[in-house]
Amino acid sequence: MKKSFINPSFPHLLHGGDYNPDQWQDRPDILAEDMRLMQLANCNALSVGIFAWASLEPEEGKYDFSFMDKALDDIYKAGGRVVLATPSGARPAWLSMKYPEVLRTNVDGSRNTHGMRHNHCYSSPIYRQKVAEINRRIAERYQNHPALLVWHISNEYGGKCYCENCKRAFRAWLQDKYKTLDALNKAWWTAFWSHTYTAWEQIDPPMDHGERYTNGLDLDWKRFCTHQTTDFMKAEIRAVKAVTPNVPVTTNMMGFYHGLDYRVLAKELDVISNDIYPTWRGTQADINTAIDAAFIHDLCRTMKHQPFMLMESTPSHVNWHEYNKLKRPGAHELASLQTIAHGADTVQYFQFRKSRGAGEQFHGAVIDHEGSENTRVFKEVAALGARMKQLDAIVGTKTAARVAILHDWSNRWALESAQGFQLKHKKIGTTQRQFYRSFWKRGINVDVISPEDNFTRYDLVVAPMLYSVSDAQGQKLAAYVEQGGTLVCTYTTAMVDETTLAHLGGWPGAGLRRVFGIWNEEIDTLYPDDCNTVQTPFGNVKAVDYCELLHAEGAEVIATYASDFYAGMPAATVNRYGKGKAYYFAFRDTGDFTDAMMEKLLNDLNITSDFDGALPHGVTAHSRTDGENVFVFLQNFNTEAANVSTATAWQTVENGSTVCGAITLKPYETLILKKER
Ligand code: GLA
Ligand code: ZN
Repeated sequence: MKKSFINPSFPHLLHGGDYNPDQWQDRPDILAEDMRLMQLANCNALSVGIFAWASLEPEEGKYDFSFMDKALDDIYKAGGRVVLATPSGARPAWLSMKYPEVLRTNVDGSRNTHGMRHNHCYSSPIYRQKVAEINRRIAERYQNHPALLVWHISNEYGGKCYCENCKRAFRAWLQDKYKTLDALNKAWWTAFWSHTYTAWEQIDPPMDHGERYTNGLDLDWKRFCTHQTTDFMKAEIRAVKAVTPNVPVTTNMMGFYHGLDYRVLAKELDVISNDIYPTWRGTQADINTAIDAAFIHDLCRTMKHQPFMLMESTPSHVNWHEYNKLKRPGAHELASLQTIAHGADTVQYFQFRKSRGAGEQFHGAVIDHEGSENTRVFKEVAALGARMKQLDAIVGTKTAARVAILHDWSNRWALESAQGFQLKHKKIGTTQRQFYRSFWKRGINVDVISPEDNFTRYDLVVAPMLYSVSDAQGQKLAAYVEQGGTLVCTYTTAMVDETTLAHLGGWPGAGLRRVFGIWNEEIDTLYPDDCNTVQTPFGNVKAVDYCELLHAEGAEVIATYASDFYAGMPAATVNRYGKGKAYYFAFRDTGDFTDAMMEKLLNDLNITSDFDGALPHGVTAHSRTDGENVFVFLQNFNTEAANVSTATAWQTVENGSTVCGAITLKPYETLILKKER
């Protein structure tokens, strides 16, 4: 497996964070301290300029790069590198005042006043022009600066704008997609409630005080928002790439953020980067937190099947959780190494130095208001940095996964806006994580794939609640099974197509009825205090939320309902199709059935962890590989010590000592082990 570097000129793990010298221009003493402390913290990368537009262009057309010049020079002299940002995430007041169209318009038609951030219009020609101009100037100024490593395009893109420019762009996008109103009306089923459109100008985005029940409109609006944001981002990227074609670009994402289909953005980026702030609590609840975080890391890695950047995390606590608890000693190292275990080549923070005032003054940082290297947090960061320096061998390595979970933004949008089932809580994320947990606790690498990925590289594909399936996607799933793959789907599979029109001819649609060998006639949504019992090979389990009423049409029945009017009907099935098998789980279980089934499938398919020993509760192992060696991160998420044992003679990556036999992992301990593949 060929290694893949974020920037081959610096083949080390990056450690550092968002750094705002623009906030400290009157304190040269502090700026000098920052460089001393960066070295002491074993940091080697700072992200500069993220919200610095007002410093860089204090008046329209008047530029002042002095703070940035000094920051880049100083960081480089101190041995560091720079992740350099474009400043479009927040704009100077003069810009909003002079060109109000750059301000975002809310769904009720009101326009934002100047303030806050992440609230510009993505369509505004003037905003695009101003952003391209400042981006170009930054790129021209630093194109040959030896510190420049990666472009950090904007910051956490998100949100929607309902201004006339955006509405016009939406209509043009629709026109391009559907060509005729007739096609659009059919796809959106607008004859319902007399919603037929007879002119493109009649189409508005979905709004609470307007159209809400045209599911196809809702889905297309969300797709359009992704398109428009991506288009804006592309314009930003063009401005810097025109000057620095070889400097990689990224933008910091937010995991499974609902508002954008990140895979569309990903196509325009060289590297994926992500911001993550899990609620580590210092209790056994951290095991669930770890599972959720791991699932997000796997999504980020899989988007490009290459190492990603952890662009933001906190070394201690945030300021915006409901309860801003400190990370317990050791938790920071554990969480950071977990990210690397799942494919990150960087550990970066928001923020390097705490700002003195304003909205984030009490957010965790490497350097506290106290200002020295003597804080607990600083020492933990420095210790982590020291470990990271020993991990050059990991840099650029990839993850070999035989299991994939399918997550598709369009599917989630379609399902969540569907009028029916459990109206407000479809729980697709919960369902996905229920499967993910089974793999996590067994130390199995998982890719989080899209419908566009190549399924055939996986032995097992799990596609929970894949509600919206086009005919082409149905054919692809069928071909995967036919060629020998094992596919697991659940309740709500293939009920509608890619425009949210119901599949006719029985569920699962899109040609999957014969693949699963079943007909799903009805779906029973239970009240929260209802349940059914399902008889399974592993004993009786509880069915909650959803019970579908299946007929086996050739499939073998694995489990049956035990009560209610559908007692005796199939609750889970498997069908041989071509060389593969298609499993269907018709009910939501509370975890035990999913877990037992996943264990069975892993055994059937001979999929094992790269760590050979049994993993106790809260301990897991994930691996990366360079093709010749396997690097296993053995991690204990328990607040207590845990015992494992291995029959392999491992080497620790950091000091080459041999590990074999019984191992006691301290609370929160990570061992990074290596063996030949
Ligand atoms: C986000 C932003 C940062 C900062 C952090 C605080 O991730 O990108 O600028 O506000 O949150 O946690
Ligand atoms: Zn707009």
